[in-house]
Amino acid sequence: MSLEAVCYRRGSLQILNQLLLPQQSLYEDIGGVREGWEAIRAMKVRGAPAIAIVGCLSLAVELHSKGNAEWSVSKLENFVLDSLNYLVSARPTAVNMSRAAQELGDFVCQEAKREGATAESLQESVISWAEAMLEKDLKDNRRIGEHGARHLLQQIGQDKVVVLTHCNTGSLATAGYGTALGIIRSLHAMGHLEHVYCTETRPYNQGARLTAYELVYERIPATLIADSMASVTMKEKKVSAVFVGADRVVANGDTANKVGTYQLAIAAKHHGIPFYVAAPRTSCDLSLQHGGQIAIEERPGQELTDINGARVAAPGIGVWNPAFDVTPHNLITGGIVTEFGVFAPAELQAALMQADSQI
Ligand code: MRU
Repeated sequence: MSLEAVCYRRGSLQILNQLLLPQQSLYEDIGGVREGWEAIRAMKVRGAPAIAIVGCLSLAVELHSKGNAEWSVSKLENFVLDSLNYLVSARPTAVNMSRAAQELGDFVCQEAKREGATAESLQESVISWAEAMLEKDLKDNRRIGEHGARHLLQQIGQDKVVVLTHCNTGSLATAGYGTALGIIRSLHAMGHLEHVYCTETRPYNQGARLTAYELVYERIPATLIADSMASVTMKEKKVSAVFVGADRVVANGDTANKVGTYQLAIAAKHHGIPFYVAAPRTSCDLSLQHGGQIAIEERPGQELTDINGARVAAPGIGVWNPAFDVTPHNLITGGIVTEFGVFAPAELQAALMQADSQI
């Protein structure tokens, strides 16, 4: 049984407060949209898919708790649209929440126009839509795991592989199983994983705190390295491939992911190591043509200057703290692993358009 970042049953949403991990496993209630927004903003829950899932489920529990007595169809529709707009503002770089807001927003407008629509039927439809996200994300991640693992094994023709990963892309960042970490899980389950190196992922330490926690929890053979050790690890430790997740993959394959991803891709290219991005369709944004158009979140300087509330940086120093960077498509040499298969960056747009047309 893997860790659960999100525990949901109709009318009740709890998230594992990731700020307290690994010292403490504390689930906190999310009673509605404001609490959902705050949990996302404070990074109690994080990771592109989990942000959207918690955002939409926070709306579902709020709708459920309000009952339907006070609503008209148009009031409910407006409430849903306003809530979605608000949720999108919590964190800008991952596309998943804004994509979900667009889709759920379109859906609610369409449902509101349906003949015979009532506040009750609309409420039920929105709640069911949000609930379906959880299930779909888990299914997609399992497919990503399978595709990514098989692709690597086929490409390198080795029985045992050593992989390096960055940030946290596991059960804690998704509905379960994970994306890049899901591929690692699959390799392990197939008996082909020799070892994983996970970076600590400064400044927020998602690797040291969360990925390391998941790997230990699942008994996957793993070693933690500082971000600054990535190149020497590639050189000395026979790394077969690098797998990372994505917050937004755009039409030409350029990918925004946790800051530090870009330098890993450069180092992997130098060492001739395939570099893979794992991303469900929900993390892809074909409306942007290249990575320069992605808004990169900047976070408080304190995340860099302090560790666990204690100041480590010299007082008075300036700080720049972008939470993400963009890896250009030409460095994604292994491929982009989606639930539909593994694609070269240049093939991604056409593949996703084809998949979209079949839905
Ligand atoms: O700032 P975070 O922790 O939300 O950043 C998370 C990442 O960058 C992940 O790699 C990405 O969201 C993919 S999670 C499956």
